[in-house]
Amino acid sequence: MPPSKRLATIPPYLFAELERKIAAKRAAGIDVISLGIGDPDLPTFPQVVAAAQAAVADPGTHQYPSNRGRQEFREAVARFYARRFGVELDPDTEVMPAIGAKECIFNLNLTFLDPGDVALASDPGYPVYTAGPLLVGAEPVLMPLLAERGFAPDYGAIPEATLERAKLLYLNYPNNPTGAVVPDGLFAETVDLARRHDILVVHDNAYSETTYDGYVAPSFLATPGAKEVGVEVFSWSKGYNMTGWRCAAIVGNAEAIAAYWKLKSNVDSGNFEAIQLAGARALEPDVDAHVAAQNAIYARRRDLVVDALSAAGVMVTAPRGTIYIWAPIPAGFADSAAYCEHVLESAAVVISPGGAYGTSGEGYFRISLTTPDDRLLEAVARIRRLGDT
Ligand SMILES: Cc1ncc(COP(=O)(O)O)c(C=O)c1O
Repeated sequence: MPPSKRLATIPPYLFAELERKIAAKRAAGIDVISLGIGDPDLPTFPQVVAAAQAAVADPGTHQYPSNRGRQEFREAVARFYARRFGVELDPDTEVMPAIGAKECIFNLNLTFLDPGDVALASDPGYPVYTAGPLLVGAEPVLMPLLAERGFAPDYGAIPEATLERAKLLYLNYPNNPTGAVVPDGLFAETVDLARRHDILVVHDNAYSETTYDGYVAPSFLATPGAKEVGVEVFSWSKGYNMTGWRCAAIVGNAEAIAAYWKLKSNVDSGNFEAIQLAGARALEPDVDAHVAAQNAIYARRRDLVVDALSAAGVMVTAPRGTIYIWAPIPAGFADSAAYCEHVLESAAVVISPGGAYGTSGEGYFRISLTTPDDRLLEAVARIRRLGDT
């Protein structure tokens, strides 16, 4: 049975492809080091695991969850947003759980886009910002994020006719894959654009808790007027080492959340309530110290990699957020995919090709810091030994 024409409009998911290649090499006895996917290597914090264990043992969590989310979860998110970001949220109408940010972002496309509509997507960006619109028959339009503009999109460069068709706009700061933090004034400019063109802003806040050098990432919703035009997707995956738990929340505009709720109630049956309770526990103030200690580990790894690459003559900027190093590929390779293929085949190191994140990512590669120091250094040493850099 041939898959749908819709499915043919999107490329295979980068990391699904890489997983296959890594498995084949390992089966052949090759010691592959993966600096590809951003999947934290450190465990979920102990208080969160303990809360989950208690919640799993409680029969009160064993039945179908409501898509709306448990009251404790919604209240915990609202308390966290108030203390962490200075954003007031109504737990009854402005907070809802999601089965990971990926699910939420994909389903927002189904919720808001019709064929012919446009979604404005940060480029480079998380692949779901472009695959999502394509899968629902809409059109993703790339907004280049260039280093010379501090990785801010240039709204002035988007044709008026495109803005008229645009219904969604995807932003993400701290940014995957560039590591950029939000440029001054960008969120306010975005609120203004969204108001003028009736666009729903989706700020993907997957990395707000993973920052360095004293930088504290803001919420988009702290921008005046943001709640009228936007939602934010908060994820536990990276900041709390919870990728496997599938725990996220959508917060902000109540009407948008109600529409997403309507969609979800027809698509899935919500997050296991024990996971919601564990997620709520992660947002309590005593967990902040774990997050800070973890960020110190990532900062040390970041410095190790930046120093090693700089010593090899690769121009890299130390990011103030995210778990990624974004670096230019050496001269002599046709594109980033060719370079990453070469590194995998010759050094058994997985790095991500920038081109997989969008046209503006071409010419770069991404290193994830979610590998212990010794393996990270071994991987960078292997890359240096190739002598391309
Ligand atoms: C920008 C961004 N958004 C969302 C996600 C996915 O988050 P989740 O695990 O909550 O689905 C990722 C994961 O890499 C990401 O980089």
